[in-house]
Amino acid sequence: MNDPRPIGIFDSGVGGTSIWKEIHQLLPSEKTIYLADSKNAPYGIKTQEEIISLSIKNTEKLMAMDCKLIVVACNTATTNAIKVLRSSYKLPFIGIEPAIKPAALKSSNKAIGILATRGTLTSELFSQTAEIYTKDIQVIEVEGNGLVELIESGKKDSDQAKILLENLLEPMLKAKIDFLVLGCSHYPYLIPLLKEILPEDVQIIDSGEAVARQTKAILSQNGLLNTENRNPENPEFFTNIEPEVLSEIIEAEKHNYKVSKLDF
Ligand code: SIN
Repeated sequence: MNDPRPIGIFDSGVGGTSIWKEIHQLLPSEKTIYLADSKNAPYGIKTQEEIISLSIKNTEKLMAMDCKLIVVACNTATTNAIKVLRSSYKLPFIGIEPAIKPAALKSSNKAIGILATRGTLTSELFSQTAEIYTKDIQVIEVEGNGLVELIESGKKDSDQAKILLENLLEPMLKAKIDFLVLGCSHYPYLIPLLKEILPEDVQIIDSGEAVARQTKAILSQNGLLNTENRNPENPEFFTNIEPEVLSEIIEAEKHNYKVSKLDF
């Protein structure tokens, strides 16, 4: 079966484009629509009730655009709201969770770091996963307070971001972690700075590729793949603030991507 409808992707802002890039690369025949709810970023300091309500708002916007599947490209929204979304709507949802399992299994030092938002670290889904996979492992959990705001304001490569990261990573370096799990879809944009700060033997893991593989598998299992159109329309990006940062992060001009401001 051929399903040309778009895949919808939402995040609290520009960070989920790190997941969108992986999906676009793995599934080039699929049209994608990305919603950046930057007006309400960061989600990580909001209550679960607020995160659920924002996730419902984004979902309904994407459903109104005829999306066939929704990727919740935000760890905080996944860990706090995906259960409600799955039980409220019929279409499939793909979520993003911190890659604790591979880090815990591969760690030789038996010490891993997890950088995520408060909303993710305090969620039930996160504690359940951490409990299963990190029994004999020292886990240094750090709230990345302030990082999302810097990325949203186009300061991902700034000295300010570097100094903040140096402070946040200090307890992890003391514990001699050998894996750093990025538990927020914004953080892959900090990898160049993280590499400057972390010793070479610390591996950084994010969940982008795994989410893209899971998206492909679920589309295929549900007969939702776009099997015929080899040249789908260009991806579309919507943001509810001025589009400069989003356009810059996805190199919209270079790729001729359409970025529009939308009230949602
Ligand atoms: C946030 O909006 O606070 C971060 C989004 C995420 O957890 O991926």
